[in-house]
Amino acid sequence: MKISLTDKPIKNQSVDFIVIPYFENTKQLTGYAKDIDELLNDSISKLIADKEIVGKVSETITLYTFGAIKPKKVLILGLGSLESFNPETARTAFGRLASKVLTTNETNSAVICLDSKTISKLPKTLTKNQLVQAVVEGLILGSYQFTKYKSDPNANKTDVYIQVKSHEKEQVSKATSVGNIVSNAVNLCRDLANEPSNIMTPSKLADIAKQISLKTNIGYKALEQKEMKELGMGALLGVAKGSKQEPKLIVMEYKGNPKDPNKLALVGKGITFDSGGISIKPATNMGDMKGDMAGGASVISTISAIALLRPSINILVLVPATENMPGGNAQKPGDIVTTMSGKTIEIDNTDAEGRLVLADAITYAKSLGANQIIDVATLTGAITIALGNICAGVFSNNTVLTSEVIEASNTSGEKMWELPMFKEYSKQYKSKTADIKNVGGRGAGSITGAQIIGEFAAETPWVHLDIAGTSRTTDPNGYQSYGATGIPVRTLIQLILNKSTIL
Ligand code: BES
Ligand code: ZN
Ligand code: MN
Repeated sequence: MKISLTDKPIKNQSVDFIVIPYFENTKQLTGYAKDIDELLNDSISKLIADKEIVGKVSETITLYTFGAIKPKKVLILGLGSLESFNPETARTAFGRLASKVLTTNETNSAVICLDSKTISKLPKTLTKNQLVQAVVEGLILGSYQFTKYKSDPNANKTDVYIQVKSHEKEQVSKATSVGNIVSNAVNLCRDLANEPSNIMTPSKLADIAKQISLKTNIGYKALEQKEMKELGMGALLGVAKGSKQEPKLIVMEYKGNPKDPNKLALVGKGITFDSGGISIKPATNMGDMKGDMAGGASVISTISAIALLRPSINILVLVPATENMPGGNAQKPGDIVTTMSGKTIEIDNTDAEGRLVLADAITYAKSLGANQIIDVATLTGAITIALGNICAGVFSNNTVLTSEVIEASNTSGEKMWELPMFKEYSKQYKSKTADIKNVGGRGAGSITGAQIIGEFAAETPWVHLDIAGTSRTTDPNGYQSYGATGIPVRTLIQLILNKSTIL
């Protein structure tokens, strides 16, 4: 899908669709809605009067123009009530429009009327720029499909024009560009996490991170096994032992404010396949574990957008990438590993590998000067028991950073909820033979997982996002297709923009 702005008279455009947004209970059609209604003998007003058009969110009613105007069809798109309209409603309605109408093979082009005459009113809390950004995001996110391995992949070549008034064009073009950058980053994250593990190996992920860094001119390196050994990353190396794939610790750096000593590290779990290791997982749905690098994919995608948006802030991205496999050399329950921090961990269950690789990556992030850390991980099945597939779990040692994350998530629409961390829980992962063990028993599995990671963040302000329940979906709707969701890319970008000023 290609999105551009237009201010040309709509009647003369030879497109398949004109899309007219419509709020529930609108008394008076305005702008293009009114013009087209008149040209079509009041068909739109009649359908509204007959309650054929109601305006519920995502409702679509198609009218044929039979030559009355150049465009073939007029599509009325419901946006719900004006009072409750927000960016998430816009993404949902336009996302569904994209997935159900605009990406079909029969549609080649469409004009969407977002000019100030047709949309004559917006809620006070929503600016025109926010609306346009959300519409662009909805369209691009909604048109996403992972079909590259199908013999007949959907081409998705539709040209979409956003209709604005000429005086709005400049202002709106900025919002269009931000919407493009943000949603393409989300789709990149989806692509990475949807890719099967025979393709998306640690080396492949590192290679993609390298290409992004070269293209956007940001720092890149990847630590190899030898350097990990020199740095004493026994926990990361322990997980990698069972696999034939070389582990990589991917590092990307964006220096948007070199004079500022502050550095925010985004650390993403990068297990390209999690078989469980010797504590092997059951066969049912094990294939989903190709997505156990979704956290890593999300931080790589986030910095790819940040490198284009260029805010004045310093961002470090780290992705400890490895498979977790039960090979002949695999680590075993009862093993003890020494982490880069010096703390020792008894491996009680090799399937609790995320916290192990994150432990060393977080210690390394601190050694590179990070003074705030956010880790993103498909860490525990237990988070789905606590929060379902609706929202991600938030865990933290710092209330300021937590509220910044939650605030960003309220804007992005990616739901998040904080769970507690109490020192009493740490009893559960005491070890008889090492400093700690890597699992904390049945109760509060997501909390003990988080706290084990927190042992390595220690005094550094840190937030952990457990996305095991939200990184994939089998229930597509709105702007979300089957598979990887791309969570929490939009939240992380929003957080970074909130923390900084755009250069
Ligand atoms: N990658 C899994 C968590 C997961 C489960 C992600 C379902 C996505 C969907 C993680 O490495 C894991 O296996 N966690 C264990 C921890 C347990 C052994 C303490 C789990 O949740 O069972
Ligand atoms: Zn895992
Ligand atoms: Mn696991």
